[in-house]
Amino acid sequence: MEDKKVLLRIRNLKQYFPLKGNKLVVKANDDITLDIYEGETLGLVGESGCGKSTLGRTLLQLYRQTDGKTMYYGRSIDYIAPKYVRKTFENLPRLHRKMKELYELQEKIDKEYDALLGWDGGQGMAKDEIPEDHPNAKQLYAKRNELDKAKRDAHEAFLNIAQLIGGFIIAEDNLNEVSRVFLKKYEVIEEKCRLQEDLEEIELELRELNGDLAIFKREGKSTSGLESKIADFEKKKEAKLRQIAQKDEEIKLREQDIEQMRKKYADNPEFQKYEAYRDEGIDLARLTYPEMRKLRKDLQLIFQDPYSSLNPRLTVGQIIGEGLLAHKFFKKDSEKMQDYIMKVMEDCGLASYMIHRYPHQFSGGQRQRIGIARSLALDPKFVVCDEAVSALDVSIQSQIINLLQDLKEKENLTYMFISHDLSVVKYISTRIGVMYLGNIVELASSDEIFRNPKHPYTEALLSAIPTTDVDDKREPILIEGDIPSPINPPKGCKFHTRCRYATEICKQVVPEFIEVEPDHFVACHHMLEKSQVSFGASDEK
Ligand SMILES: Nc1ncnc2c1ncn2[C@@H]1O[C@H](COP(=O)(O)OP(=O)(O)OP(=O)(O)O)[C@@H](O)[C@H]1O
Ligand code: SF4
Ligand SMILES: [Mg+2]
Repeated sequence: MEDKKVLLRIRNLKQYFPLKGNKLVVKANDDITLDIYEGETLGLVGESGCGKSTLGRTLLQLYRQTDGKTMYYGRSIDYIAPKYVRKTFENLPRLHRKMKELYELQEKIDKEYDALLGWDGGQGMAKDEIPEDHPNAKQLYAKRNELDKAKRDAHEAFLNIAQLIGGFIIAEDNLNEVSRVFLKKYEVIEEKCRLQEDLEEIELELRELNGDLAIFKREGKSTSGLESKIADFEKKKEAKLRQIAQKDEEIKLREQDIEQMRKKYADNPEFQKYEAYRDEGIDLARLTYPEMRKLRKDLQLIFQDPYSSLNPRLTVGQIIGEGLLAHKFFKKDSEKMQDYIMKVMEDCGLASYMIHRYPHQFSGGQRQRIGIARSLALDPKFVVCDEAVSALDVSIQSQIINLLQDLKEKENLTYMFISHDLSVVKYISTRIGVMYLGNIVELASSDEIFRNPKHPYTEALLSAIPTTDVDDKREPILIEGDIPSPINPPKGCKFHTRCRYATEICKQVVPEFIEVEPDHFVACHHMLEKSQVSFGASDEK
């Protein structure tokens, strides 16, 4: 994709569901790393239960993620001024000490592991291979898990600090000063954030008043009272904007303080190295519930069965209006809101005179349009469409898909599009991610996935698509056996129990998810060559 701007950056995301009554967990998402670009449609495919819905919902923070990072770049950090940022700056010296301790612990465990393994520091056996007949095999596995956890904890503690202070993470002699200077800037950001909230209230009033004004004019009523009110609010708005501009100036000054402090480390290559960890995004998993509420309108979900999520006692107008009121787009009983809802309904292909009807008075396709209208009325930035068309007839499916495409173009949306139906995913997606048992095993552009699949699981999935091409002599590749349990997934490559290319290494070593060609990521020890397979390369997209 040219001109890529990342909207969501997901690193080592895990979502485990504990099972009631015992210590087992369902590893629904198990270490997922992925960037989602602004304006793309990322298709997500894979067998039932592989974790697609879980990933969509975890990104939206409908579940608290078990581990890993989900960074969001659709808003700047001063839109919510999250508390975790303040806490990090306030506690910097203590957090830094804690991070160092974690790294020391990691080293200690590492040494114990070496001793158990009898590792000689490089010759002979590779360090991450534990032979099953090793006399200490059992302890080694346990130590290995302990070591992995220690590494993860230390790295997470490091990232949480470095993403906010960058190179200053090396400023050990100076952490109190770093804390003070960063906090000072952040306090101004918090003040600006409060002013912006005031501004939003004022703008809300103004929208309502201007709406009333238009109606009064239409009805030939006197508008002088309203006009003076509007003038008052316009003045308030100007004053607020001036205060916000002042805060921007102050923020610049505080940045200069930081620049001043930076000079001390200007020649230190370590400093420059760690500057690369600085991250301006919002760390979604660390937001408080009210903070996340402020972002909720940006991150929306459209699901398969809108009927179960549409309150049968509310009219369409009320259903769409609920979110608008909750997110302060309008005030209650606003005339303007009614106009807005009718416009959104029309945009989503629903006649606006139906605004007072109840969900049961609509067809399945229309109800799906209501679900879409409800989400899109909030002017979101990222929408997860989870089997959004799967329950519909084929002819209605294509209408809804076209609607989603049109809305995306118009509103500059980014979609994650989850579906069982590969031909639908192929049609709609910019890129496609293939999931197996909690992991993304292959990720590439839609064309590339179909022309040049490299993962055996992708190959098998694609071979199962019915084709109309008479020259196509491909046999569907059967994936043998059942999907293993996500509670106790196979060791090594999770697909090895069903893969026709599996060898010994597949049973032992987890294949890394790597970029094997530009923008083409695969996790497999024996990737397929280009000449081996190609599916529907000549199909029109
Ligand atoms: N809330 C939950 N509590 C416990 N386990 C869950 C929960 N949600 C999902 N799971 C389990 O996590 C795994 C992944 O489920 P998920 O719904 O994400 O799969 P999916 O790929 O969306 O499947 P489908 O294509 O059938 O919708 C499954 O084993 C499922 O049973
Ligand atoms: S790593 Fe091995 S088992 Fe896994 S997909 Fe590749 S070849 Fe198959
Ligand atoms: Mg699902």
